[in-house]
Amino acid sequence: MKRALITGITGQDGSYLTELLLSKGYEVHGIIRRSSTFNTGRIEHLYQDPHDPDQRLVLHYGDLTDSSRLVTLIEKVRPDEIYHLAAQSHVRVSFDEPEYTGNTTGVGTTRLLEAIRMVGIDTRYYQASSSEMFGATPPPQSEETPFYPRSPYGAAKVYGYWMARNYREAHGMFAVNGILFNHESPRRGETFVTRKIARAAARIAQGKEQFVYLGNLDAVRDWGYAPEYVEGMWRMLQAEQGDDYVLATGTATTVREWVQYCFGAVNLDWESHVRFDETYLRPTEVDALIGDASKAEKLLGWKAQTMPDQLARIMVEAEMKDLDAAR
Ligand code: NAP
Ligand code: GDD
Repeated sequence: MKRALITGITGQDGSYLTELLLSKGYEVHGIIRRSSTFNTGRIEHLYQDPHDPDQRLVLHYGDLTDSSRLVTLIEKVRPDEIYHLAAQSHVRVSFDEPEYTGNTTGVGTTRLLEAIRMVGIDTRYYQASSSEMFGATPPPQSEETPFYPRSPYGAAKVYGYWMARNYREAHGMFAVNGILFNHESPRRGETFVTRKIARAAARIAQGKEQFVYLGNLDAVRDWGYAPEYVEGMWRMLQAEQGDDYVLATGTATTVREWVQYCFGAVNLDWESHVRFDETYLRPTEVDALIGDASKAEKLLGWKAQTMPDQLARIMVEAEMKDLDAAR
């Protein structure tokens, strides 16, 4: 039985990846942070009793800032595959907490890579790189596009990208960079713009709120569906050698168009409900991300299936269902 270790298992991608790996017969180990409230909501439905002799999902406390713990965990689990998804992943927040973002999203990657090297196991490593690394470089962006990060988060991800490549080139590690464009789902964090808007549209439709406050409506993003992207991560680690791949839909949607899709799904006129708040502007913005995923299609047979307009509907319907269930 293959064994995988996932950092960031409690996040959006971690939860879908866990479902995928369990369905493929893996034993899955995940690192969670100690917190005073439960932070395992996204994987609650996958929980397995530690007393069950057939348990295939095991959770361990740990943190990206704690190198010795990463070493002891790698030694204990000895995974065949490591998916490094944990990060302070919010771009706007990274301007408020640049040092913390660098420490976790950037140096946290080095701590993990170094823990693997110190323990000396032969494993395959996935690095959650990001289209934010392209920043100000105009679209379309592919594996060959130069990086120009526009936030402390983007800069930290560029550092992590190069560390993963360096461990591949210097130490012969099977290390992969998945350069993923924005991917969303009903499990997306509530403060990312797609979920924030889908949630607001549903709540306004049900009379719970009247307005949603947003920043820049002109930004262009390439929004895909998260469950499809974790399949791409897995395929990258099954390839013959470590390499770097972009995953994206190749489509361009503005935040304004996303608003129209979501409010359209509940038959509301968005202009009566959207208000501007400069709090949500970034000191430096990434104007346009549109990915070219042709390498992943050619080498991994991966292609995005769900397009942004369908995705918006999926997310608004999920919000409506949750509100109905809570009644
Ligand atoms: P997410 O929902 O924000 O999840 C982040 C995960 O990292 C959570 O499990 C979080 O734990 C954990 N984490 C944060 N700081 C940690 C620390 N110091 N130690 C240990 N764990 C820590 O992110 P996501 O959307 O699933 O994205 C997964 C990865 O892909 C991230 O690295 C993100 O930067 C990257 N990425 C995402 C996208 C996207 O569009 N979603 C695109 C490109 C790249 P808690 O639950 O305890 O907070
Ligand atoms: N969050 C947020 N909230 N964004 C807003 C808002 C708002 O109220 N109003 C407008 N926006 C704009 C942002 O300025 C940005 O241009 C766009 O909506 C998307 O913002 P986010 O959803 O926060 O995502 P992101 O593109 O900055 O970052 C996400 O995608 C990256 C991949 O490109 C995150 O998941 C990163 O972790 C990921 O690497």
